Amino acid sequence: MSRTVSGAEARPTVLLTGASGVVGRSLLREPDGPRFVVATHSTPVPEAGDARSVRLDMTAERFGLCEDSYAALVAEVDVVIHSAGLTEWGLPAEDYRPINIEGTRRVAEFAERADATVHFISTAFVAALADTAPVPLGPDNVCRNYISSKREAERVLRDSGVRHTVFRPTNLIGDSTTGWTSQGQIVQLMSDWLSRGRAPFVPAHPGIRMDFVPQDLLSKAVLRAIELGDDAGEFWVTYGPEAMDLESCLRVLAEHAAGRGRSLKPPPVVNADELAPDAIENTAPRTRSYLSVLRDVSEVTRCSGGVLPTSMPELRERYGIPQVDDTTAYSKSLEYAAEHLG
Ligand SMILES: NC(=O)c1ccc[n+]([C@@H]2O[C@H](COP(=O)([O-])OP(=O)(O)OC[C@H]3O[C@@H](n4cnc5c(N)ncnc54)[C@H](OP(=O)(O)O)[C@@H]3O)[C@@H](O)[C@H]2O)c1
Repeated sequence: MSRTVSGAEARPTVLLTGASGVVGRSLLREPDGPRFVVATHSTPVPEAGDARSVRLDMTAERFGLCEDSYAALVAEVDVVIHSAGLTEWGLPAEDYRPINIEGTRRVAEFAERADATVHFISTAFVAALADTAPVPLGPDNVCRNYISSKREAERVLRDSGVRHTVFRPTNLIGDSTTGWTSQGQIVQLMSDWLSRGRAPFVPAHPGIRMDFVPQDLLSKAVLRAIELGDDAGEFWVTYGPEAMDLESCLRVLAEHAAGRGRSLKPPPVVNADELAPDAIENTAPRTRSYLSVLRDVSEVTRCSGGVLPTSMPELRERYGIPQVDDTTAYSKSLEYAAEHLG
């Protein structure tokens, strides 16, 4: 599964799409990275440093470049990390298509012309739509259209025949040693709400794991794959059976609250399958929205077998991913978010 990069074994030129995103900025912070061409879109990328930047729109043919600029990029690039995407949940299916599916098709076309390997950042949540899912994911699940678009993007890459790997991270949290993240995400938002005692209850399916992975573990794995010249493989960037259970997650939240001078009595956990039909509907608007997300994410995990598939042992062995305790990393991530994300 490995192939050296012609003429540039030591330092391939890597086009990074989605550079301003959580994953992109984490990748750019890693030491001793490759030579990046940083694809910007609408947001600045502070970590880009003196790397060459090029403005690309994934929704436009040739990424919106003229033929000459596109051909020059083709000639320059050895490897693509494709991390750009529409990541918000709860949108209509047609909103995801231009970026997540058609954008990936354009990346495959580009890679074919450039004879480049693609490292695609998908999502572990595709497990919920697998044929082997123990129960089907509900049609109204808030993540469903997003997940479908990522699964379709994986198919586009597979069918294209270009050399590629697929990395499937679960929800990412801050850096494993500092808790740093470029922006707050759903985990930090929901955790803050929970740690302030705002949840009347937590809807969850029995036995599900709370699987959060520090973002730098994903970055290290992708960059090491490039260093080794890997051009095939599917990697679940999750903790799987090592992931904390819900009780441990609530314990970390209570400790976090205590560290900030608040007392949190962990909310009762209610079996999401046995919720009264109006239990969520009858709450205040924000509570309703957050409880629905908790229930739907729990459903995604339940449809993935309760425990997400994982490649963590292989990522540690092949790519030297450090052994990081997820509850410690989660705690650091909460601290960072409380101090810096407001
Ligand atoms: N973060 C997570 O917890 C997580 C978990 C699992 C999987 N993933 C996957 O990892 C990938 C990266 O996630 P992320 O959290 O870094 O996402 P993010 O923070 O939402 O960033 C999305 C990136 O896509 C770019 N983008 C959006 N529309 C574009 C367009 N039309 N043309 C070019 N670029 C465009 C954005 O650029 P601008 O900001 O400049 O518009 C931004 O850089 C995603 O594909 C996601 O599915 C993320």
